[in-house]
Amino acid sequence: MTVRGKFITLEGGEGVGKSTNLRFVTGWLQEQGIPFVQTREPGGTPLAEQLRELLLSRREEPVDPTAELLMVFAARAQHLAEVILPALARGEWVICDRFTDATYAYQGGGRQLDWDLIALLEQTVQGDLRPDRILLLDLDPELGLERAARTGAADRFESEQLEFFRRVREAYRSRAEADPDRYAVIDAGQSLERVQADLQRQLESLIP
Ligand code: TMP
Repeated sequence: MTVRGKFITLEGGEGVGKSTNLRFVTGWLQEQGIPFVQTREPGGTPLAEQLRELLLSRREEPVDPTAELLMVFAARAQHLAEVILPALARGEWVICDRFTDATYAYQGGGRQLDWDLIALLEQTVQGDLRPDRILLLDLDPELGLERAARTGAADRFESEQLEFFRRVREAYRSRAEADPDRYAVIDAGQSLERVQADLQRQLESLIP
């Protein structure tokens, strides 16, 4: 019987260094010879990537928070069916740039939607599937936004105010506090070497 692969997600607010650290994580997996699939949310399949474009593009029409939430989960359902579940079943690891914790943080914290509603959709779309480890890059949003501003035009989320990102951070942190075995909170304000040493320790702890 094939052993299910590990499901790892990378999370954090804007400008925490997700892309750089994602490259570190996938490089490390390659060195270990662990087969993996790298993907992202919202997105990861052609349909889900189209939903991502709809979600991220700036528009005149205000987007209703519940409509936003349902689009996020629509993309997730497709992504799970087409990419994540088949890869895990093949015994491959899945490294996902954001997942449902981002929904609790952005739609729950940022948009202030009810966490019970998110939990209901989570259970409906994912069943009992949860990430094995959530690598949370934690940074003061003031610093994060400053860093993010250097990397080009802001999308619909990046255009939110500081208060929004403070709520995002608090939501992430409170979820991590409630389940310390599953979450690794990594101080993204440290030097890159230290961040990556922390990441490596987390990855090593997942190898059976
Ligand atoms: P990023 O992949 O460049 O971080 O952009 C994705 C954006 O989508 C980011 O601003 C967070 C947002 N997002 C949500 O609001 N809810 C979600 O569930 C996910 C996965 C992402």
